[in-house]
Amino acid sequence: MGKPIREGAGPRHVAVIMDGNGRWAQARGRPRLFGHHAGAKRVREIVQACPDVGVKYLTIFAFSTENWKRTQSEVAGLMSLFRRYITKEARALKAENVQVRFIGDRVRLDHKLVRLMDELEQMTVDCTGVNLTIAINYGGRDEVARATRRLAEDVAAGKLDPASVDEETLPRYLDTCVLPDPDLVIRTSGEARISNFLLWQSAYAEYEFVDTLWPDFGAEEFSRLVSAYGTRDRRYGGVRA
Ligand code: IPE
Ligand code: IPE
Ligand code: MG
Repeated sequence: MGKPIREGAGPRHVAVIMDGNGRWAQARGRPRLFGHHAGAKRVREIVQACPDVGVKYLTIFAFSTENWKRTQSEVAGLMSLFRRYITKEARALKAENVQVRFIGDRVRLDHKLVRLMDELEQMTVDCTGVNLTIAINYGGRDEVARATRRLAEDVAAGKLDPASVDEETLPRYLDTCVLPDPDLVIRTSGEARISNFLLWQSAYAEYEFVDTLWPDFGAEEFSRLVSAYGTRDRRYGGVRA
């Protein structure tokens, strides 16, 4: 049932901003959706590479709260790709012992997609291998705003004392409440920005920005970036002993 995760000095949680599908397609004279389909195919290889390099948590950015600005046909194509992806990959993910979660605001997603997301989460809830978190309609600011709203509701209901609120409190209301913070954030396609991904959680993450377009990104490059993380000196504001 899936490979055992090799524990080591590497990053336990890697988050990936899968960018560059559109440019990859454009370079081939094909529509952007062709690039999204090619990109989706790369995910399995990266998930499968995780146990060998000691990555227990993999979080991937599939659709941001800002991506609704794209044409209606690209958005509809992406939503249909997500539905198809979940339907097609569910059995393989379960067989590989992958526990799947989704983060992001589900309210704006269509009911059929939300049902498939819920089902996949339920189906893999007992899996003990890699934790795959897929961010759909996810925005870091939106997540913090939604978390703050729920926190405020608890205060109003008398369940939470405002004087007790500190930096341990808010994370309990975030979509990622059960996940550790990412150790390493990778972005493909040459853009050196985080585009509203895991804002709170990445306060002390290490970053890798690579030029490779997402549909060309493979296990070998992933493993190389994960290994390079071992050479980073994470000081968290302190000094080396
Ligand atoms: C990333 O690829 C996938 C999504 C944001 C859904 P893009 O679609 O952003 O590709 P580029 O950046 O236009 O090349
Ligand atoms: C970030 O990529 C979102 C995802 C990868 C899902 P974008 O392509 O949307 O980000 P910008 O527009 O370059 O900042
Ligand atoms: Mg992009």
